[in-house]
Amino acid sequence: MGYAEVYARAVNDPEGFWGEAAQALTWSRPFDKVLDDSAAPFYRWFAGGELNTCYNAVDRHVENGRGEQTAIIYDSPVTDTKRRISFAELQDQVARFAGALADMGVTKGDRVIIYMPMVPEALVAMLGCARLGAIHSVVFGGFSARELATRIDDATPKVVVAASCGIEPSRVVKYKPLLDQAIEMASHKPERTLILQRPQSPCDLIQGRDVDWTAAMAAAAPHDCVPVSATDPIYILYTSGTTGKPKGVVRHNGGHAVALNWSMKHIYGMAPGEVFWAASDVGWVVGHSYIVYGPLLYGCTTVVYEGKPVGTPDPGAFWRVIEEYKVSVMFTAPTAFRAIKKEDPGAEHLKRYNLDHFRALFLAGERCDPDTLEWAQKILQRPAIDHWWQTETGWAIAGNFLGIEQLPIKPGTAGKPTPGYNVQILDDNGKPVPAGDMGRIMVKLPLPPACLPTLWNNDERFKESYLSAEPGYYLTGDSGYMDEDGFLYVMGRIDDTINVAGHRLSTGAMEEVLASHPAVAECAVIAVADELKGSLPMGLVVMKSGVNMDADTLSKELVTLVREKIGPVAAFKLVAVVNRLPKTRSGKILRAIMRKIADNETYQTPATIDDPSILDEIRDSLTPLGYAQGRQQA
Ligand code: COA
Ligand code: AMP
Repeated sequence: MGYAEVYARAVNDPEGFWGEAAQALTWSRPFDKVLDDSAAPFYRWFAGGELNTCYNAVDRHVENGRGEQTAIIYDSPVTDTKRRISFAELQDQVARFAGALADMGVTKGDRVIIYMPMVPEALVAMLGCARLGAIHSVVFGGFSARELATRIDDATPKVVVAASCGIEPSRVVKYKPLLDQAIEMASHKPERTLILQRPQSPCDLIQGRDVDWTAAMAAAAPHDCVPVSATDPIYILYTSGTTGKPKGVVRHNGGHAVALNWSMKHIYGMAPGEVFWAASDVGWVVGHSYIVYGPLLYGCTTVVYEGKPVGTPDPGAFWRVIEEYKVSVMFTAPTAFRAIKKEDPGAEHLKRYNLDHFRALFLAGERCDPDTLEWAQKILQRPAIDHWWQTETGWAIAGNFLGIEQLPIKPGTAGKPTPGYNVQILDDNGKPVPAGDMGRIMVKLPLPPACLPTLWNNDERFKESYLSAEPGYYLTGDSGYMDEDGFLYVMGRIDDTINVAGHRLSTGAMEEVLASHPAVAECAVIAVADELKGSLPMGLVVMKSGVNMDADTLSKELVTLVREKIGPVAAFKLVAVVNRLPKTRSGKILRAIMRKIADNETYQTPATIDDPSILDEIRDSLTPLGYAQGRQQA
């Protein structure tokens, strides 16, 4: 069957389609119903079924003769370490880790927060939770103590698993002081923390609370896989919303395993035994799905790379990893390729490596500009495929399907809708728009397996954020259009989240931090274009009258404050102190116009603006920062 037939079947007969896909996994109790819609719009996949995700990702392969195959390749140029872990070794480590958690009183349904860098132990911790039926919530290392505290309070974990440090090329990031501060700040106190000591910066342990990873593993008895319901959560992953309070995206065990396993063959064209590499981080959804669960469920080898595309040590780092481990398919964010292109535009480093076995590059996480896509295809002489997805869905909503039929590659598009997703472009009145017209990208319910069934402890916010815009549809939060041939163009967010180096961040959260500074009267955060990271946040702040402080000092304090409160990952470094902010007569801040001014795009002064002369002032304030260099009013 070609793409069109597979797509039509998945949309017209979801139960038949996904019921068949589910047969590829081992269930300890068969499901009663493929899709339970009795509580719609809360749909449940594989209701009544029981399975264990860790069993399917690890033990099953050992039982089926893959015990000696490498499951995880750890390659860490920042610590000069390389290590291979076979499926049999992984089974032993994960079983012991589950035993160690059980010794701390963790049982099915308990939450465990994991705050770790890109080390294999992070995967062991995730799989160990899944083995016990505990729900993990991984927090990205680039977030601050305060962000970690917010997640601790929302997920109320019994245990937090962390490493003593992470390694960024420019510095060692000590995780333990951040963890201690977060626990101090949080109202909920985890009973125990389990700490992996890294030689680059070991930490002190607090008696009675902190447990040493190595000691706990040595003392633990291996624990068996605990069968869980298909509709029990496997994890919670927090993502930026429009406010400072992140959304806890829930993923269910059954649908997650089925969809990811299906995607490995049909989207990425992988075969069991091959090597798949997602150069991302376990703290992001890409890491969850394609560093950990997808490849392992499908019996592939996964690469855990603790390094950057450039500078560790050079822009040939990706090609070295692809050659050294015979990677078949790689997945990363366009920003990584922009970083390589900037340092090595002629791809000279590529000439040192043999990439014969490499088949395709997949890109996602942010809009991929056609230049970057074309450059990647030109230097690699392989398909470079942009595909679109989000934390909420857990896997691609649109893409190209190497295991079904390779569609033409059209730079600028994110491909065609993935089988299972009924993607529609609707206008503000809920009417489908003609091909080529912009609108809100929505997915007709039910969403396919693996997509979020709800938000953690917050059915109301789930309905309000995603289902209330149009009855019967899921609001992706992205806008775009579909062309005559059914290719999707994803152009940008319609809410206050922005994308910086493939990381989704909330401008609302940054505004809350800026507004908390005693000298700030009001503020706005906008995303300005950036050649490397796609976009960067910029704060425009108005000082309180009577405050005696120079603009430079205030700017520096605000940059430090955002780094402290949100984390270095926010990459917040641009501040303009302005006299006033442009607003509508009803008091709404005109952020979109300020972004256009900063990026030198054509703009029209809105009829509703309170005082048009403020736009000139804004332009003058942005020029010294290197933005708004011309005036292009329509
Ligand atoms: N722990 C602690 N700090 C971290 C971190 C982590 N796990 N990850 C990033 N940071 C820090 C960085 O050190 C940097 O700090 P700085 O302001 O002191 O320099 C800051 O957070 C911003 O990080 P990043 O946006 O990653 O920028 P960078 O300049 O370090 O690297 C790229 C730029 C393009 C090389 C990098 O973003 C990259 O490799 N991206 C592509 C892959 C990817 O991760 N995609 C995500 C989703 S698929
Ligand atoms: P995150 O949840 O952090 O993965 O961010 C998801 C958001 O990133 C999406 O809603 C889009 O706005 C953006 N995004 C991800 N992939 C793409 C893509 N291929 N093209 C355009 N935007 C993308």
